[in-house]
Amino acid sequence: MKILVTGGAGFIGANFIKYERKAHPQDELICVDELTYCGNLESLEEELKDPAFKFFKADICDAGEVERIVGETRPDVIVHFAAESHVDRSIEDPQIFVRTNIIGTQNLLEAARKFDVARFHQVGTDEVYGDLPLDRPDLFFTEDLPLKPSSPYSASKAGADFLVLAYHRTFGVNVSISRCSNNYGPYQFPEKMIPLMIANALADKPLPVYGEGINVRDWLYVDDHCRAIDMIIRNGADGCVYNVGGHNEMRNIDIVKLILKELDKPESLITFVTDRKGHDMRYAIDSSKITGELGWKPETMFKDGIRSTIRWYLDNRSWWEKIITGEYKDYYERMYGNR
Ligand code: NAD
Ligand code: TYD
Repeated sequence: MKILVTGGAGFIGANFIKYERKAHPQDELICVDELTYCGNLESLEEELKDPAFKFFKADICDAGEVERIVGETRPDVIVHFAAESHVDRSIEDPQIFVRTNIIGTQNLLEAARKFDVARFHQVGTDEVYGDLPLDRPDLFFTEDLPLKPSSPYSASKAGADFLVLAYHRTFGVNVSISRCSNNYGPYQFPEKMIPLMIANALADKPLPVYGEGINVRDWLYVDDHCRAIDMIIRNGADGCVYNVGGHNEMRNIDIVKLILKELDKPESLITFVTDRKGHDMRYAIDSSKITGELGWKPETMFKDGIRSTIRWYLDNRSWWEKIITGEYKDYYERMYGNR
């Protein structure tokens, strides 16, 4: 099988490429990535040494480039990760989210249609469902819920999902969508909560917790997400949406305290800062469809996954220290300077 991965130099895309190479060494992998602020070729150092692995630096918003690459490589499957992915940045500058997440997705769908790609897989997010109240622990996101996104990020991802389903219905493109909860693991850009808190704790800097820290996320180890996508592209039904989640709901403040404990740092580093605008309260996934149809289940327990993630950040300081001393430093000042 020949798989074209967009956004493979980002967090989940890089983990997916590593997962596929191990699980299906006979498959051919092609990566298309524009290497924006969060795309890092160092994450693919090993893969780039392999002559069978092809990398194209290209912007998915450039329709001509996308058509050229898909036409030249003729993949069987496109797995589409490339996106603007950070909610806080979408509040600062929504437009690039519309451009990358909606126009970029449509360009790829058009190429999939033109070259009869056998499967277009959209890597979606549970955030398209909006949020759930904290006082209704009996409620979960199911695939048939109407989409009700809260942030420009999740609204742009919802727009992309609708386009994917429209290309299926209108043009008969063979598609699937996974909507996954929050991921954590190696190679995550240190603007997202878990790596940001690890990096700050290691530097004895304040850990900025939004609001009261009571928002709940359903955390899933990145390899479990990669395995779910792998199962969907091989055995998932055409035109179907699959929710993917860890049944591991945790409050932000509890995660932050756990990180501090693991690193033997004091809780006095915790600083409560102004809440995120429109902050979603709770995400919780019902993943019984993918479990029932494809036999997927999360395999990594949070206590093990968070330990190995912290270990990875300790062992790979040069990967993230370079990032936080570069362009990201300006972003950090803008985001947290006066908060
Ligand atoms: P990321 O921000 O770490 O990586 C995104 C990648 O896309 C980067 O390599 C970047 O260079 C590339 N990219 C951005 N704009 C591009 C463009 N115009 N052309 C080509 N490449 C471009 O993101 P991530 O956390 O790995 O998320 C990957 C996907 O998974 C996204 O679609 C996101 O919505 C989805 N998702 C993420 C999570 C999570 O917890 N991180 C959960 C569910 C779904
Ligand atoms: P994040 O990693 O940005 O993921 P998402 O917003 O997609 O869920 O944030 C996870 C949670 O952590 C979210 O409730 C916001 C919160 N958060 C903080 O409290 N402080 C921070 O500095 C960041 C980045 C996030």
